[in-house]
Amino acid sequence: MKNAYERFVRPLLFSLHPETAHHFAIGTLRHASHVDLALRTLRIFQPPPKPKTVFGLTFPNPIGLAAGFDKSGVALPAWEALGFGFIEIGTVTAKAQPGNPRPRIFRYPEQQALINRLGFNNDGADVVAERLRKLRESGRWPRVPVGINIGKSKVTPVEEATSDYRYSFQRLHPFADYIALNISSPNTPGLRSLQTREPLSILLRAIREENQTARKPIVIKIAPDLSPAELEEMIAVCEENQVDGIIATNTTLDHSAISPRQNQEGGLSGEPLRERSTAFVRSITTRSTIPVIASGGIFNVESAREKLGAGARLLQVYTGYIYRGPGLLREIVEQL
Ligand SMILES: Cc1cc2nc3c(=O)[nH]c(=O)nc-3n(C[C@H](O)[C@H](O)[C@H](O)COP(=O)(O)O)c2cc1C
Repeated sequence: MKNAYERFVRPLLFSLHPETAHHFAIGTLRHASHVDLALRTLRIFQPPPKPKTVFGLTFPNPIGLAAGFDKSGVALPAWEALGFGFIEIGTVTAKAQPGNPRPRIFRYPEQQALINRLGFNNDGADVVAERLRKLRESGRWPRVPVGINIGKSKVTPVEEATSDYRYSFQRLHPFADYIALNISSPNTPGLRSLQTREPLSILLRAIREENQTARKPIVIKIAPDLSPAELEEMIAVCEENQVDGIIATNTTLDHSAISPRQNQEGGLSGEPLRERSTAFVRSITTRSTIPVIASGGIFNVESAREKLGAGARLLQVYTGYIYRGPGLLREIVEQL
């Protein structure tokens, strides 16, 4: 049976262009983040506590907001009020950037999917750091772990990626409970090449060097399009460099679920990604003890159980939240 969001709110949001709907939602949550009464109202969606400790952090429940929803970190108090067990903002890049030309988000309601080629539109590390500093001063900083996902600026050549990540790390690390290195977006040319041994080792060594004082857990976010051999190598490099966690997975370039007529360039998320991302979670957890955060096609308690059954320690939602709305968290957490 459809919930109230699916019956009344989703039809309105889906009558808008996807990016317009996104701006409307994030704008509303941004305003709500400054208003106590609004935050109290959002709390009606809070799931019951199901605390969990992973890489030294305590999470009030295992479901987090996946990166990309709040790229520039404008609505942290609202996400906490809605009941997320953790919030990952970003992807933030060293330099502010507008992203790719529009349109760049596409809905596929029949497949419960999205394709996006946003290309890391975000305010840049300096502006985001200043915003987070102000939020901390205001006393509204969320009591749930905040992850900051960082990526490479488009104008920075991939050979200089490390300095770009290093800059964002320096600026944002004081505000993060963990840092996620995004090396798997399909929408920044060359980014996924950072998943191979040489460049990944260089990047991880540089981040380790930066991460000596006030050490924060480092997690990396991987693509579901790696070959088994590439995944094997990636896990080995993560272990050699004491990576604290792996987010599996980002969006996929496999668009076989979408008819060629409707297809668009970009990364596919949602239900058609679920099985593949679960297989990645299982591959990692059978080979390694590095904790895995599962992301990809979580829409209900069954898909959440599937990820936990594959060995995931934490979960993240994005597309499922767009399709199922804010009641999704309680629906899942209550039944876990
Ligand atoms: C519109 C959109 C924008 C996204 N932007 C980012 C991003 O900036 N950084 C990132 O690491 N992942 C990004 N993602 C990927 C999601 O965080 C998530 O890993 C992926 O969509 C799979 O989960 P889902 O099936 O629950 O959506 C984005 C996804 C969507 C749909």
